[in-house]
Amino acid sequence: MRTAIYPGSFDPVTLGHWDIIQRAEKLVDHLVVAVLHNPSKTSAFSVEERVAMLRELLKDRPGILVTSFNGLLVDFAKSQGAQFIVRGVRAFSDFEYEFQMALMNRKLAPELETVFLMPKEKNSVVSSRLVREIGTMGGNLTELVPEPLRARIAERLRKS
Ligand code: PNS
Repeated sequence: MRTAIYPGSFDPVTLGHWDIIQRAEKLVDHLVVAVLHNPSKTSAFSVEERVAMLRELLKDRPGILVTSFNGLLVDFAKSQGAQFIVRGVRAFSDFEYEFQMALMNRKLAPELETVFLMPKEKNSVVSSRLVREIGTMGGNLTELVPEPLRARIAERLRKS
């Protein structure tokens, strides 16, 4: 059984994340979408909200588990029996950070392979940071977040 972890902050989930999830699920039998629980980082949405939104989005996909984790990603990946870590890369600007993280994770757990996937061009400029900024100022989130969650994310950000 091929299992991959797709880890991230998902604060909130964007169309870029959704694009990567749909590509990753074709490659493996089981995909674990894992929200990092990082108490030292301030976030717009609580971990519970982020997990709930991803579960809502993925409710018709039995091969995908949504959960949260804390501690080292490689430890969590091993606990899930995963062989792969999936990360999305949008532009060269993502590369240095992703490259460092992939090589460090490889040092920590050589048996885990990091797989980089690219979203569609139109999703490659989408980031959670921009969604938060635009949403907080009441801007249009069409083409930035998945349609089933758009109203929920927009309302929540407007109130923040
Ligand atoms: O969506 P993000 O914020 O870019 O995701 C970053 C994430 C969650 C993948 C990364 O911060 C992570 O794996 N954190 C867990 C702690 C860890 O394993 N750190 C060592 C990484 S080399």
